[in-house]
Amino acid sequence: MSVTVRVPAKVNVQLGVGAARPDGFHPLATVFLAVSLFDEVTATPAAEPTVTCEGPDADQVPLDRSNLAARAAEALAARAGIEPAVHLHIAKNIPVAGGMAGGSADGAAALLACDTLWGLDTPRTELLAICAELGSDVPFSLLGGAALGTGRGELLTPVDAGSFHWVFAVADGGLSTPAVFREFDRLTAGASVPEPEPSPELLAALASGDPDRLAPALSNGLQAASLSLRPRLADTFAAGLGAGALAALVSGSGPTTAFLVRDEEGAAKVAAALEASGTCRTTRTASGPVPGATVLSA
Ligand code: C5P
Repeated sequence: MSVTVRVPAKVNVQLGVGAARPDGFHPLATVFLAVSLFDEVTATPAAEPTVTCEGPDADQVPLDRSNLAARAAEALAARAGIEPAVHLHIAKNIPVAGGMAGGSADGAAALLACDTLWGLDTPRTELLAICAELGSDVPFSLLGGAALGTGRGELLTPVDAGSFHWVFAVADGGLSTPAVFREFDRLTAGASVPEPEPSPELLAALASGDPDRLAPALSNGLQAASLSLRPRLADTFAAGLGAGALAALVSGSGPTTAFLVRDEEGAAKVAAALEASGTCRTTRTASGPVPGATVLSA
């Protein structure tokens, strides 16, 4: 018997970042949107805990305990007082180290897959608490849809959202999230960084489903740091905007760039222009919101 869970990527349509807390994390006011770009994690009983991965970027995925999927299985097994005797296979389509919560997605998917495989039926609130221990973005990968994230991003309140179309430009090589936050600290050193607040304009635009309204409301407080570490992302922005994208922003800590488009036709045009421009490695088109981690087969 095995259990397969499908889990989406995310883009932050608002990412408000405050000054680092004493624990080193940064207070956030962020709005997550789950988009239709998916990984699948399959859990199968095994003598030893193991992880394998397939997909275009599989060689960049760690297969040891640093993989959030492995850590999710361990955390759940420890809570239940059982051995994490499971093989986890990741079919990876979400860009690795791209700012789209790919690793977090696999953590949330593994948690749900193991919970189902082991028949634990752990209450949702406890699964979310385990997710929060695994990483700031992991609870949202389980929840999906659209949600306001506060704290370090792990405290979630669902919000209304119409459906929006996106093109994602995947850069060559990833960016380390801690490195981007460190660059944010360097760029803001000496400045007074206000407490981050949810944007009423952004939330209203998201609920309206109107991309022309959402475009000017998008914001990412990590974007300057991401661009500082990857100045050539400016060329990717120019290529997508030149092809008619309504707006461009770095996805999370980057370096994936998200382009908001009006419809599927617009998405195809922007994706083709980005591919031809040579300013990114590849593109993905997606829409959202979509549900969070979901059991496909058990
Ligand atoms: O929570 P997660 O393990 O995904 O965070 C990875 C790193 O990103 C943290 O160790 C920290 O350096 C940085 N981070 C942060 N503030 C947040 C979330 C993450 O500084 N709100």
